[in-house]
Amino acid sequence: MPLTRYEYTGPIDHTVVPDRTVCRGQSVIITGGANGIGESCVRQYVEAGAFVTFGDMHDRGYEIQKELNEANGKEVCAFVKVDIRDWEQQKVMFETAKTKSPHNSVDVVIANAGISRSSGDSLWNLDGQYCPCLIWHESVGLDVPWGLAC
Ligand SMILES: NC(=O)c1ccc[n+]([C@@H]2O[C@H](COP(=O)([O-])OP(=O)(O)OC[C@H]3O[C@@H](n4cnc5c(N)ncnc54)[C@H](O)[C@@H]3O)[C@@H](O)[C@H]2O)c1
Repeated sequence: MPLTRYEYTGPIDHTVVPDRTVCRGQSVIITGGANGIGESCVRQYVEAGAFVTFGDMHDRGYEIQKELNEANGKEVCAFVKVDIRDWEQQKVMFETAKTKSPHNSVDVVIANAGISRSSGDSLWNLDGQYCPCLIWHESVGLDVPWGLAC
């Protein structure tokens, strides 16, 4: 489904409630969808009628997939166990979205997987313990290449 070309029309009016009906039938990929912000996005997009393919390294994704598909009485999401640093694993995730979504498409990608405080990899407590370059590499190595790939 082609998207309308983006044009800047000024600041977003945050008092306007988003129209969630535009999500119906859309194919959405979310990385890091087994926990936290990503999981919340998975649940919200499914509730709005999108087909969601979500990737994560964590097995909890299988539980979320089962729960949401059973609750909706049909396949509304697909979990793919993936380390997003691996190109071939990413391809499987994109192919899954294309194969299983209603229009065999990928309409929205949310590159959310990353390292945060809740993952136990607190960047704030590491000063002096490890080389800052390694920390930078791990965090940026996740977010930047993936964002560029999208
Ligand atoms: N929570 C915050 O306050 C905050 C603030 C700024 C930015 N962020 C960013 O938002 C994103 C989500 O944060 P969160 O708090 O929900 O984190 P979270 O730790 O709750 O969830 C992140 C998920 O990403 C997954 N993940 C990590 N590395 C992965 C990889 N290589 N391949 C696949 N999955 C991987 C984890 O398994 C986890 O399920 C992160 O990118 C984080 O850096 C969060």
